[in-house]
Amino acid sequence: MNATAKPDGKTITVTVEGTNKTATLPIISGTVGPDVVDIRKLYDQLGVFTYDPGFGATASCESKITYIDGDAGVLLYRGYPIEQLAEQSSFLEVAHLLLWGDLPNATQKKDFELGIMRHTMLHEQIRRFFDGFRRDAHPMAIMCGVVGALSAFYHDSLNINDPEQRRICAFRLIAKLPTIAAWAYKYSIGQPFIYPRNDLGYVDNFLYMMNAVPAEDYKVNPVLSRAMERWFILHADHEQNASSSTVRLAGSSGANPFACIAAGIASLWGPAHGGANEAALKMLADIGHVDNVPQFLHDVKDKNNHTRLMGFGHRVYKNYDPRAKILQGSCHEVLAEMGIKDDPMLDLAVELEKIALSDPYFVSRKLYPNVDFYSGIILKAMGLPTSMFTVLFAVARTVGWISQWKELIEDPSQRIGRPRQIYTGAPARDYVPLDARG
Ligand code: ACO
Repeated sequence: MNATAKPDGKTITVTVEGTNKTATLPIISGTVGPDVVDIRKLYDQLGVFTYDPGFGATASCESKITYIDGDAGVLLYRGYPIEQLAEQSSFLEVAHLLLWGDLPNATQKKDFELGIMRHTMLHEQIRRFFDGFRRDAHPMAIMCGVVGALSAFYHDSLNINDPEQRRICAFRLIAKLPTIAAWAYKYSIGQPFIYPRNDLGYVDNFLYMMNAVPAEDYKVNPVLSRAMERWFILHADHEQNASSSTVRLAGSSGANPFACIAAGIASLWGPAHGGANEAALKMLADIGHVDNVPQFLHDVKDKNNHTRLMGFGHRVYKNYDPRAKILQGSCHEVLAEMGIKDDPMLDLAVELEKIALSDPYFVSRKLYPNVDFYSGIILKAMGLPTSMFTVLFAVARTVGWISQWKELIEDPSQRIGRPRQIYTGAPARDYVPLDARG
């Protein structure tokens, strides 16, 4: 699919009221989705900028990677529906798809898997970074620091304009993130770091590094492995969300990709984004019992309260998030495998969802469960501490971030990201000497 968005002859004409200033702007169509107005010449023609806080109405780039139809609840990676990929594909196959544009054939798949798994080890000097953190440091803080520090090991030799070096760098990031994440966890619980085992494959190796100890044999549970594989696939990319846009903005200045991904991790950490899976589970624990749901929802609707129903709502989805639907099903599988017959958290989540979906406050605002609503319940059932939830998100999303970064660097129309503003501060004024200030 090599289509490139181009003007299709349609235009929009904008007139500044009360003047004779008019601009005719081209409309550009993608392969699917709404058309966009090309406003690049607007300032030249009319002397005005556009104003769009939070970029809710702005396409910041052209992309061929991921498509979302928020009204219909559709998510496609390179055209493939997320439901089919989650059911039939593997995470590394999806990584190949996101990075290179197509599912690999058998030879490409083998080469790709070998290529990624060759890069799982960390430089021994990186090991020492962990000792610099407090034992109780949040693992996301460690992720930001250690991933950023990879720059110190590869920056000097990295030419981002060389496709081969971009490929190696993508492989390094995808391969090393699980090792860094598992070690951040091991550090927090005082257990020895477990070195990667490439023969296990991507997801099993991650579970192994997280759960094994040198004193005992460890066998990866295939049901949990499949659930984690699916979880990784669902979190692999999501077009121009806050963290991917952060990676693109950092990358647009030519910064090295290790630093760009560290910036993405920082952006993901916030509770309005990737931090919501941790926040959603904390919220369920705080609510505690179904009886407390009405009071909780009352607090959510109170504008002065600042309480939000975590794991609900999305900037783009105004219908059920398709990832949440898949995770809801996955939840039951994992709980059954772990022998958890009745999970009060799951019961509470289901009840909360039911009440919220029939409440006019949520209905009128088109607020539905997002990927984070059921995500935490699965990870908790697998025995992961809440502080690791967003870290797992970062591991999976690294594939999307690096695909977005690669697309940015390879886009001939790319230039440094530099939004404008509407200035509402003081107009020009003269410096006032200290003794003359009131
Ligand atoms: N609980 C209660 N009210 C909500 C929620 C929520 N979770 N989400 C949105 N609203 C309300 C807002 O108060 C606002 O109401 P108003 O029109 O009366 O002022 C309206 O719905 C629109 O909300 P915005 O904040 O303008 O929507 P926006 O698109 O900016 O925010 C966001 C999207 C950040 C995801 C928001 O829905 C939210 O904070 N959700 C909870 C956090 C969360 O689950 N984040 C994960 C998102 S998925 C991801 O990043 C992987």
